[in-house]
Amino acid sequence: MFDCAAVYGNEDRIGKVFQDAFAKGKVKREELFVMTKVWNDMHGKGDVLISCAKSLKDLQLDYVDIFFVHWPFRNYHEPGASGDYRHPDSKPFNVDEYMETWRQCERLVDMGLTRFIGMSNMTIPKLEAVLPQCRIKPVAIEMELHPSFQQPELFEYCVARDIQPIGFCPIGSPTRPDRDKTENDITDIEMPELVEIAKAHNVHPAIICIKWAVQRGQIPIPFSVKENEYVSNLKCVTEDPLSDEEMAIIKKLDQNNRLIKGQVFLWEGAKGWEDLWDVDGTITK
Ligand SMILES: NC(=O)c1ccc[n+]([C@@H]2O[C@H](COP(=O)([O-])OP(=O)(O)OC[C@H]3O[C@@H](n4cnc5c(N)ncnc54)[C@H](OP(=O)(O)O)[C@@H]3O)[C@@H](O)[C@H]2O)c1
Repeated sequence: MFDCAAVYGNEDRIGKVFQDAFAKGKVKREELFVMTKVWNDMHGKGDVLISCAKSLKDLQLDYVDIFFVHWPFRNYHEPGASGDYRHPDSKPFNVDEYMETWRQCERLVDMGLTRFIGMSNMTIPKLEAVLPQCRIKPVAIEMELHPSFQQPELFEYCVARDIQPIGFCPIGSPTRPDRDKTENDITDIEMPELVEIAKAHNVHPAIICIKWAVQRGQIPIPFSVKENEYVSNLKCVTEDPLSDEEMAIIKKLDQNNRLIKGQVFLWEGAKGWEDLWDVDGTITK
């Protein structure tokens, strides 16, 4: 599984790697599961098709497996913007605008340009508003999930509706940009209970985060550019599982420790990053 996105700015390089692997017969297209996402500045009429076409061209593919709406806002920030940046055009979530974007994603399925479509960075109130209107339901939702941020309600909500949770920042994103760090953030891989379990299995705590994710039922998408890490991240879920007792210990580590707060997407007048996440159970206006 490859978790790509237009905004990551590297799909052309990934496309060359795919092409090379196909040409050398190392792997077939149908053996890969490739996902991409439309960025916030490409939600308008016609733009989603253009974004998908650009991703397919860069990835050198005829179709992707899941096409995601990356964030449920059209709010744009300049690349490298600081955490307190506010774009004057940014607005709170709007159901009609979101559905305009989603309708375009549904048409990508009709056209065979993606097999499935998905959502990302959603909340239960937003899902309650949009799911009944979807002609084609999301097959998966990307959400932040790691031991100190388990989002049990959103996780259960998705599972109950046959929507697969995909967990980003599964290791607690220790190398995320400074603008996404705040003073009280917890570092998952330093939590004593996780370190203890890692010692018992003779692995890095990162590996315990990944085993926990898969055994819980989410698909973790860990990032690494180091071969020893990404190989062990894949291998670890095929061997030496966590015990029920260890799973129960990790369940108790949830501390509502959201790391990707999304503050650069806030609008003028918003109180704080919590406004993006509908913490009082209603869509923040
Ligand atoms: N949908 C969204 O809005 C969204 C948002 C954020 C992320 N994502 C996706 O989620 C992916 C992962 O997120 P992330 O990179 O922020 O966080 P992450 O996967 O939790 O953390 C990545 C870091 O963990 C370390 N690591 C990985 N494997 C390790 C191992 N086996 N042992 C020790 N350390 C290990 C690496 O650090 P070192 O390099 O220091 O070893 C790596 O930079 C992204 O690549 C992206 O695809 C999606």
